[in-house]
Amino acid sequence: MARKIVFTGGKGGVGKTTVCANVAASLAKKGARVLVCDADFGLNNVDVVCGVESKAAYDVVDVIEGRCRAKQALVRHPDFPTLYILPSNRSSPERYVSPQALKVVLDGLESGFDFVFIDSPDGLEEGFHRACVCADEAIVVTTPHITALRDADKAVALLKSYALKSIVLAVNRVRGDWVLSGECLTPEEIGKLLSLPLIGVIPDEDRLAIGEFYGGGKPFGLLASNLYSNKKRLYDPTKKYQGFFGAVRRLIRKSI
Ligand SMILES: Nc1ncnc2c1ncn2[C@@H]1O[C@H](COP(=O)(O)OP(=O)(O)OP(=O)(O)O)[C@@H](O)[C@H]1O
Ligand SMILES: [Mg+2]
Repeated sequence: MARKIVFTGGKGGVGKTTVCANVAASLAKKGARVLVCDADFGLNNVDVVCGVESKAAYDVVDVIEGRCRAKQALVRHPDFPTLYILPSNRSSPERYVSPQALKVVLDGLESGFDFVFIDSPDGLEEGFHRACVCADEAIVVTTPHITALRDADKAVALLKSYALKSIVLAVNRVRGDWVLSGECLTPEEIGKLLSLPLIGVIPDEDRLAIGEFYGGGKPFGLLASNLYSNKKRLYDPTKKYQGFFGAVRRLIRKSI
């Protein structure tokens, strides 16, 4: 049976989809069979982030309404042969998808995978609930910004009402120069604040800001390993800002 993990966080735009897709690619790179289900039925974009939007023939609604079998709706990633994407309702965006209907689809698919990742929409309402009922574990994604932290805290409180085996934290968009100058909380401090084990630190990266999919990049690779290893290794976003050249980098970043 697959490990079913929801990527959630409350606040919009904190990088749930980016982290979910890239960690999935990192695991697939190591040979794991990974399904990414787009459970964002409003502003769905897992297929776009993974660069497979033109390859999708069917979606979840087609499966639920019997127009295709679940396996037919899966899109295999061209660069990662064990990575599959299940698009949300792209063909009929107005159609309501019940939490139970989505759960039935994912339960039917899980035997073919090691991991089923569920990309949750923003907010803590219906879409959040639909994504959470399908999962056994949760990864809360937040940025160090205060508004994101407040929403993450609310998300954690709600997640505790689901029968989840674990709730862990990934801090995204960390600026190493700001951490060093004390202008933002460290990922470890954020973990303590939210009382969650920290399993991933992702730096703020220009390549990610333009939506580039860099599956297998080091920070995502470490997070992926932390999902199945007891030894937790975290990416250090401050490293490139230390020492003489690091100080130069910090000055340059401050001036732009
Ligand atoms: N580490 C990062 N560095 C720079 N930009 C990032 C990073 N992570 C995400 N982004 C950018 O932030 C924006 C929002 O990311 P993303 O869509 O993954 O967030 P989300 O939480 O899934 O949003 P939504 O709540 O709308 O689903 C995108 O433009 C993405 O490219
Ligand atoms: Mg998203």
